[in-house]
Amino acid sequence: MILGFIGTGGITEAIVTGLCVHGNHQDKILLSERSRFRSKRLAEKFTQVQVLGSNQAIVDRSDWIVLAVLPQHTLAVLAELSFRAQHKIISLPAGIRLETLSTHVHPVKQICRAIPMPPIAHGLGCTPIYPPDAEVEALFARAGKAMAVTDERQFTALGASSAVMATFFAWVASNARWLEAQGVPTDDAAFYAASVFHTLAAMSVNASAEALQRMSEKCLTPGGLNEQVLRGVKQARVIETIQAQIDGVMSRLQSAE
Ligand SMILES: NC(=O)c1ccc[n+]([C@@H]2O[C@H](COP(=O)([O-])OP(=O)(O)OC[C@H]3O[C@@H](n4cnc5c(N)ncnc54)[C@H](OP(=O)(O)O)[C@@H]3O)[C@@H](O)[C@H]2O)c1
Repeated sequence: MILGFIGTGGITEAIVTGLCVHGNHQDKILLSERSRFRSKRLAEKFTQVQVLGSNQAIVDRSDWIVLAVLPQHTLAVLAELSFRAQHKIISLPAGIRLETLSTHVHPVKQICRAIPMPPIAHGLGCTPIYPPDAEVEALFARAGKAMAVTDERQFTALGASSAVMATFFAWVASNARWLEAQGVPTDDAAFYAASVFHTLAAMSVNASAEALQRMSEKCLTPGGLNEQVLRGVKQARVIETIQAQIDGVMSRLQSAE
């Protein structure tokens, strides 16, 4: 199966790296020249990767095509391409519904949307896919996990709920800087701050929301340190604020759709 990418931005680099380094992907991968420095770097790193000069050449020589240009460029890029009925298209741009895509990729019938995240480069993370497609799920599961949903609203919600990456890193960085300010050596401070989150995240995987709530309550020794922090967080409505921001992202994605 030849996999072609239209758009060689950050997420294409992450997917290609994840598949080649962690997914044992041996089949050919075709990239567009744009962005030139990135496509060149990937072709130098991975023998499976070949760079072609035009989007149509990629489409003509690929079995599956990953659309990985920015949302505002997607329909104009598609308008210049001709597809075969046998193609499979995996669309990454946020806010472009399956129905809209299907009218721009005639005569293709196999179309799905996916939301791979940058951690896929490390073989980590879970890629939402809509609608379910066993072959596409298997592809993304080679570099992390895949989660297929049957409802496009759920797919959009999974995307919205993951808009917390910048907030997460900023929070870990803040904890690390606070430790540094207490005199902990820089490397130890960053390692320790990240380790706390890493351990908690590892314990959370596969737990239900109810189980997670119980895990939180178990940490709340009356008059204890965790109780003190959670009380302050609740008073400042930190969790509600994050949830409201995710609601805002969901509304933005839905109005784009
Ligand atoms: N980044 C993420 O975490 C993430 C996650 C899920 C989904 N997505 C979606 O994936 C898409 C790409 O995101 P990104 O972060 O990789 O964006 P990006 O880094 O800005 O990459 C966009 C790429 O599109 C290329 N491009 C623009 N016009 C083109 C054309 N006519 N033909 C071929 N290539 C063209 C750009 O090339 P030049 O540099 O030469 O202009 C660039 O390589 C977006 O729609 C985004 O919504 C991103």
